[in-house]
Amino acid sequence: MAELLYERIAATIEQQIEQGLYHPGDRLPGLRRLRRQFGVSLATVVAACELLEQREILEARPRSGFYVREGARPLPSPGEGVSDVDGPSLVSGQERVLGLVQAHNDPSVISFGAAAPPVELVPAVALDRSFARVRRRQRARIPTYDFPPGNLELRTQIARRMVQAGCNVSPDETVLTVGCQEALTLSLRAVADPGDVIAIESPTYYGILQAIESQGMRALEIPTDPVEGVLPGAVERALARWPIRCCVFMPSFGNPLGHVASEARKEELVALLRDHGVPLIEDDIYGELPFDGVRRWAAKAYDQYGDVLYCSSFSKTLGAGLRVGWVAPGRYRERVAYLKYATSQATPTMMTLAVADYLEQGGYDRFLRSARRRYERQVQRLSAAVRQCFPEGTRVTRPRGGFVVWVELPQGYDSLELAKRAIAGGISVAPGPIFSPTGRYRRCLRLSAARPWDDEVHGAIQRLGEMAHGLRMTP
Ligand SMILES: Cc1ncc(COP(=O)(O)O)c(C=O)c1O
Repeated sequence: MAELLYERIAATIEQQIEQGLYHPGDRLPGLRRLRRQFGVSLATVVAACELLEQREILEARPRSGFYVREGARPLPSPGEGVSDVDGPSLVSGQERVLGLVQAHNDPSVISFGAAAPPVELVPAVALDRSFARVRRRQRARIPTYDFPPGNLELRTQIARRMVQAGCNVSPDETVLTVGCQEALTLSLRAVADPGDVIAIESPTYYGILQAIESQGMRALEIPTDPVEGVLPGAVERALARWPIRCCVFMPSFGNPLGHVASEARKEELVALLRDHGVPLIEDDIYGELPFDGVRRWAAKAYDQYGDVLYCSSFSKTLGAGLRVGWVAPGRYRERVAYLKYATSQATPTMMTLAVADYLEQGGYDRFLRSARRRYERQVQRLSAAVRQCFPEGTRVTRPRGGFVVWVELPQGYDSLELAKRAIAGGISVAPGPIFSPTGRYRRCLRLSAARPWDDEVHGAIQRLGEMAHGLRMTP
């Protein structure tokens, strides 16, 4: 418990530094003051400050206290090499992702590649009970189609949960899908045609690139800040220059950067896109996993005209194998429901009823509270191990939620080669180029911290670090 507390206090201080409460060179308030401020013991604040010292954010000066380090560890650079004049492009290089995620099927591989919660981090027992109840009580429904928009029980539960994200959406305004991936693809098809330009974050989740590629659309990369996501100014410049048909963004806990836009930024973005008549596809799949427990409002919360197609799923919380997701498509509802029907007829009845039953039982929020804390700790441990084991100058993001970490190696290192060597050694990672339609981010990689931390995981990061040291790219 004490361990949890000091880690949380360290995270709060780190956030205060990022928000500019303290600048490099500033002295932090004295330990006794911090202790009173946080209402904890002296030992706990000391442990928090020492942790930040280990992470090279603070430095202790003898008889003086803790100071914010000059040039405190920089974050990865936003949108490597992306400039305002880079136009849209067709997506290439995504075929290799299947090989990468297939490694996840092999239990002997230590997987930092695909980002999915393991059985230890889903409410497996409660879900089992829900499956049993559905089998007992809803037997007649299980073998039947549950045509779009899908069963009302789950859509009602989803609409209630979306209130926490500031969204006033009725059950009738949602459509159930096979995971968030189907929600994204249907949304794209509803608002755009082959050849159209889709603005995306850079780097972005490779599934978004695959959805764009599968529809023959073109992607336009918008450089994305590792703390705040896409900045409205960059979107505005792109809108002025290119014929953007829609945007696909992750305003809260984006993948792979873990960024989160402020509520004001989200509101500004929605208004800007409204002015240009451009719909927003919002991917909020990590929205329920904020480390500080504060559910952020979605961009959809600021949507008065039905321009935002909100996509999510239970893959990151209840399990990716359930394949249960949804979209709240705003004014594109009829079109999305029809495309859903035309694409896959329905979402598996058993799965959606079981998730609805689980949510009706009322333990989801409690489960999420403990899952968030565990992910936060796992992310911190993984990040600390990377900093320790990877070549000097390696940069690591500081995600505020979710469970993925973006790592930027120094110039000259090649993550594709690292991924190749890693898989030969039984470790999978997601190399940077798959997060860009044009193969940028050659020296970056994404690591999933979903797996509970243990000696095996630590050993795998150490081995990855050794491999990274051994692979300076020849110019
Ligand atoms: C940001 C993001 N969107 C969508 C998906 C796809 O989700 P699902 O498994 O629910 O289809 C993922 C899965 O990794 C993701 O990280």
